[in-house]
Amino acid sequence: MRFVLVLTTVFSLCCSGFADEPAAKQEQPTRKMSRYELRREHDPNGIGKFYMGREIAHVMGFAGADWLERSSREEEERLTLMVRSLQLRPGNVVADIGAGSGVISMLLAEQILPDGKVMAVDVQQEMLDRLEIYCKQYDIKNVEPILGTQKRSCLKPASVDLAIMVDVYHEFEFPWEMLQDISAALKPGGRLVFVEYRKEDPDVPIKEVHKMSQAQVRKEAEQPELGLTWSETIHILPRQHVIVFRKSDADTRPQPTP
Ligand SMILES: C[S@@+](CC[C@H](N)C(=O)[O-])C[C@H]1O[C@@H](n2cnc3c(N)ncnc32)[C@H](O)[C@@H]1O
Repeated sequence: MRFVLVLTTVFSLCCSGFADEPAAKQEQPTRKMSRYELRREHDPNGIGKFYMGREIAHVMGFAGADWLERSSREEEERLTLMVRSLQLRPGNVVADIGAGSGVISMLLAEQILPDGKVMAVDVQQEMLDRLEIYCKQYDIKNVEPILGTQKRSCLKPASVDLAIMVDVYHEFEFPWEMLQDISAALKPGGRLVFVEYRKEDPDVPIKEVHKMSQAQVRKEAEQPELGLTWSETIHILPRQHVIVFRKSDADTRPQPTP
């Protein structure tokens, strides 16, 4: 049912890519819609919607929260090491986009004490409810849950020192809109961090549409309109790369013509 709903939404929003679309629709795609392409033949783990050559994955449902919290995860993904490698400072404001049940948010929250804050954004209220339960249980007071949408993080403009997406970006149904929105939420000089399973490595035991290559991430994030510049890629994790971009100090994005 969920799959049918997702496909229905995608079909109604995006109209490029099918030979048997009504001619009027094919001739008049809006600019925004033409960023995406629908294909009939696709990976069953993807939604059949493609962006810049790669297929978007299904969103992990709330039923996947146990997997996110599995006891072997620290050994498999070295999350603590990953969070330390970001060199956060006390007082930083950090956005954990696609926070899920809060595993990463809680690690981040510790690094920015005493007065820093984690904005934990997710599109699933059930995930945020679970995150809140854990924060209460462990007496963590500097995590704020935020219910976002498929296109909006609902963060305030220029409010965040670092935004991180751990195993999330490949699931965005509207990656272009989300990156625009997240870039706007970064302070000048702020960082945007992608943590994705390495597609370059066939031994990483994750489904193909849930992996991303560094080249693909850079292609998508370095579009001039986003105002992001690649800063570094941290190669310390067994299965993922940590790809870091920086928002330009001044807003150098091309301005729309009047
Ligand atoms: C695989 S889980 C990862 C959760 C968490 N980052 C972790 O590593 O434990 C992906 C999460 O991204 C969320 N998500 C997907 N699309 C999103 C969007 N557009 N905005 C915010 N969250 C989104 C999903 O609801 C899901 O909780």
